[in-house]
Amino acid sequence: MSSGETTVEPTVPAVETTTTGPRPRVRLSEPTSSIPTVAPAAAAAREVETRQVVFHAREVSVNYGEKRALEQVTMDIYRNFATAFIGPSGCGKSTFLRCLNRMNDPIVGFRLGGELTYHGHDLYDQRANRVEVRRRIGMVFQKPNPFPKSIYDNIAWAARNLGMREAMDERVERALRGAALWDEVKDRLKSSAMGLSGGQQQRLCIARAIAIEPDVLLLDEPASALDPIATALIEDLIHELKARYTIVIVTHNMQQAMRVADKTAFFSLDETRIGTLIEYADTDQLFSRPADSRTRDYITGQFG
Ligand SMILES: Nc1ncnc2c1ncn2[C@@H]1O[C@H](COP(=O)(O)OP(=O)(O)OP(=O)(O)O)[C@@H](O)[C@H]1O
Ligand SMILES: [Mg+2]
Repeated sequence: MSSGETTVEPTVPAVETTTTGPRPRVRLSEPTSSIPTVAPAAAAAREVETRQVVFHAREVSVNYGEKRALEQVTMDIYRNFATAFIGPSGCGKSTFLRCLNRMNDPIVGFRLGGELTYHGHDLYDQRANRVEVRRRIGMVFQKPNPFPKSIYDNIAWAARNLGMREAMDERVERALRGAALWDEVKDRLKSSAMGLSGGQQQRLCIARAIAIEPDVLLLDEPASALDPIATALIEDLIHELKARYTIVIVTHNMQQAMRVADKTAFFSLDETRIGTLIEYADTDQLFSRPADSRTRDYITGQFG
């Protein structure tokens, strides 16, 4: 870790994690609307100092069986920021992203050490409600994966499963508008989602994720399979979405990180080929004045 990281105290009272009693239960049940709104741009500088921490990772390490994939990651991820993870293949970007909504749990041999909290609650508490974790922390993958159903049902499916059955037409429209797809599909909602283009399918997956009103969107290389026009649409969308959501995006495209991310984390492999966080800073700073020579080598194309 370099000194590029800014440490900001969370504005929500942190739940104590070192008491002798049982660790607090992750009750992720408050309505999303109870989360305070973001401060106006004029107060931006002050806002960064007081910005709410959504995820706090302290010395998070990950093993897949005997293999250590990630070593001692310490970072805070802030509310209504887009945070980018960059770094060479195999350095643990997806692994760490997937830790943030417990997507790695089903992998045999997956073990997480250290502390990872979400709004001050221990995400890996045994009693954490994993369904609620997934509802609050949505994910979109590299390859669009629409269900072989209609466009409408793709959006409505998760909401229905979660018992959000009321005003479904409005919910579907809101999600599709939120993902900048409504105008392109409003006349074919009952058609199969498989007939959409790749870029449309990816926006559909984003619409599907936001239809259940999450707090955080995790995006793992969401535009890597898309052409430049579809990529630009996704990037515009990320700018819009971060007013309402906290976004974490893995990307191999450094220009993309520069365009969309407020903060960027550079991961790399140490000499034993274990993934490690090298530097985490404001995006402008990381790309223009990297504090670590390994970051500089990577962003100037001299890696490896
Ligand atoms: N399910 C798994 N089982 C075992 N090892 C895994 C698993 N998933 C990832 N790994 C290993 O963990 C390390 C980190 O992988 P990860 O997918 O997080 O890297 P990444 O930075 O996202 O790479 P890329 O840029 O290629 O997507 C790699 O060595 C990988 O082989
Ligand atoms: Mg990956």
